[in-house]
Amino acid sequence: MEHKFKVLLIGSGGREHALADAISKSKSLESLRVFPGNGGFSKDILLDSKEISITDKSKFFDYLKSSGTNLVVVGPEDPLVNGLSDWCAEIGIPCFGPSAYCAQVEGSKHFAKEMMKRAKVPTASFAVFTDHESAWSYAQKEILPLVVKADGLAAGKGVTVAFEMKEVKQALDEIFLESKFGESGNKVVLESFLEGEEASLFVITDGERYMCLPAAQDHKRAYDGDIGPNTGGMGAYAPAPIVTDSVLSKVKELVIEPMLHEFKAAGHPYKGLLYVGLMITKEGNPNVVEFNCRFGDPETQCVLRLLDEDILPIFYASAVGNLPERNLKLKEGFSAIVVLAAKGYPDSPQKGMPLEIPSNEGNVVVYHAGTKNQDGEILANGGRILGITSCGSSLKYAINDCYAFIGKIKAPDTFYRKDIGRRAL
Ligand code: AMP
Ligand code: GLY
Repeated sequence: MEHKFKVLLIGSGGREHALADAISKSKSLESLRVFPGNGGFSKDILLDSKEISITDKSKFFDYLKSSGTNLVVVGPEDPLVNGLSDWCAEIGIPCFGPSAYCAQVEGSKHFAKEMMKRAKVPTASFAVFTDHESAWSYAQKEILPLVVKADGLAAGKGVTVAFEMKEVKQALDEIFLESKFGESGNKVVLESFLEGEEASLFVITDGERYMCLPAAQDHKRAYDGDIGPNTGGMGAYAPAPIVTDSVLSKVKELVIEPMLHEFKAAGHPYKGLLYVGLMITKEGNPNVVEFNCRFGDPETQCVLRLLDEDILPIFYASAVGNLPERNLKLKEGFSAIVVLAAKGYPDSPQKGMPLEIPSNEGNVVVYHAGTKNQDGEILANGGRILGITSCGSSLKYAINDCYAFIGKIKAPDTFYRKDIGRRAL
């Protein structure tokens, strides 16, 4: 008999709304429940904190057992770094997402750099420090720009690309003297600056075999022309033309395969999603900027629109170590996402604005991120509010579609970038 899945999906962002959309289309889905979700999900599939916890192990186990969940899919990094996947393993429930050991690839920059060093993965040279004095005395001998990274998770805010020594000093002061990132700043990685163009590549693996999704390009700065503060991402498109077949084969040979080998050799095969953050030189050589242990947001929302097969058997196969040895089936064409953010994002986003969102039309699909459903009314409830996605035979079609639709949304005190994908057009 065909395997039917009772899925528990963890997370509350646009990424999880897109994952839920893909999962809902699966022929193998029996039921889907989501915790904690956002205003875009129908209320009957959402779980609340009375029913489940992801920090209280016995409450988590109680939910899994009583619900008959047979596949857990974890969106964000925090629960993975904290061992949610290991908890599932303890009671024999497959989980799409790496173990706490493997999730250190995102949870500790130092761990990731050491792993890359052992695997001889091309990346920036680095040094690690646990106190201000030695970091600062090393930094002063280095050439600028210099990149200062808090070791642990810092909600995307722990990295400073410093073009002047006073910025290096300020970043070190914040990390060591002001404890801006708490324990995540107990260690600092100082890194040389990598030149090139960035791309995000998502790799689904069972520790041995792997499958790549189309590479995407994110837009991290808040405002048009790549200016303003760094954000989680204001828009993305895929496939990114910078990741040519030749670049992709180098990434497989020099990055993915050596890293998977290294995890396996450490006795911890990497299962789940490995996000490879790349900097690609003018000559087409890839360097790794970072790894994440989860799907990227907002890239996932557009990348998944190019998938042309049932995602659930793939997630399950990754979780149980049985991934097929073939490429993913993908649609022709391009996809894009434009993020609608709250005024004040990323520093102090406004909340509570009422949103009027027309129904999806044509190729456009809207994913919710920072929204909540209050008695049937959808209100803004976070920095990145919505992601407007589309796909088409050309990138231009996909992007124009997103912009035509965003104009029909009524959302006071919000903004969006008008130049998503322009670099690839
Ligand atoms: P991370 O959190 O490591 O992704 O860093 C956030 C952003 O900082 C990246 O997306 C890059 O734009 C930039 N960055 C990080 N490390 C480097 C580096 N070594 N050289 C140049 N830019 C970097
Ligand atoms: N969009 C970047 C990330 O998900 O880390």
